[in-house]
Amino acid sequence: MIIGFVGFGKVSKSLLRRIKSPDVKFITSHENRSRETLNQIKNENIQVLDTFREVAIKSDILISANSPKSALDVAKKYGRYCEGIYLDLNNISPDTTLAIDKHVKNLVDGAIIGKIDSENPILYIAGKRADELMFLDEYISTKKISENVGDVATLKLLRSSYTKTLSALLIESYEISKIRNLEAEFFEILALTEGDDFKEKSMSRIYNTLNNSKRKSEELEEIINYFDENDLVMVKAALRKISQ
Ligand SMILES: NC(=O)c1ccc[n+]([C@@H]2O[C@H](COP(=O)([O-])OP(=O)(O)OC[C@H]3O[C@@H](n4cnc5c(N)ncnc54)[C@H](OP(=O)(O)O)[C@@H]3O)[C@@H](O)[C@H]2O)c1
Repeated sequence: MIIGFVGFGKVSKSLLRRIKSPDVKFITSHENRSRETLNQIKNENIQVLDTFREVAIKSDILISANSPKSALDVAKKYGRYCEGIYLDLNNISPDTTLAIDKHVKNLVDGAIIGKIDSENPILYIAGKRADELMFLDEYISTKKISENVGDVATLKLLRSSYTKTLSALLIESYEISKIRNLEAEFFEILALTEGDDFKEKSMSRIYNTLNNSKRKSEELEEIINYFDENDLVMVKAALRKISQ
């Protein structure tokens, strides 16, 4: 079996290293790639072809892991040459996933939840041919959601909606606890119901949100626009809080 990558960054490299099978051969291309990517490719056990078009033609599974911005363009340019399964792992909205579906034959909508270099990332997949990718479970925990392309992207957006809104609420309560000199006690009483590592997790969420408030606000705006029929009262409040 041949697995091709369009994009060879953290995700592709980590997948290649996890999928240790004598039956799998990996291919990618150096076409228009940066020095950084060429360096990443150089030290791996992967064949490098001249063009991504060739990669698409030869792959039984073509993995698109490049960037949210380039995902649709990559699908348009190379996806149509792929007769195998096209697995998109980019962090994209359900609208983009459905747009990609128009350009490729056998799309499987995928998402890695948790950082790819964390101990136990989970790969969620959806699509008519998702079953054929379940062999990946041997190398990375893999769960099929459904046969409907777009379901994984929707779940990812709902997850993002929940975690970002919760972070805004945490920031607000934490700020008040600090003003009233009750910071330690605030985390202590919450840990009773939320678990021992609650303070550690919360602080990481709070700083991550505050340090990336512009990007987080844009992501919340995207969520609000996508679910515009659902009037997301809580998410709108979180956006107000984060963009203050
Ligand atoms: N990292 C994670 O834990 C994680 C988790 C879930 C989802 N994701 C998603 O997975 C995707 C890849 O993430 P990553 O962390 O692997 O990114 P990364 O480390 O920044 O690597 C991106 C790779 O894609 C290449 N690329 C960019 N545009 C391209 C194009 N038009 N054609 C071909 N190759 C292109 C880059 O090449 P150049 O260097 O030449 O530009 C680079 O090799 C992103 O969409 C991200 O949102 C990442």
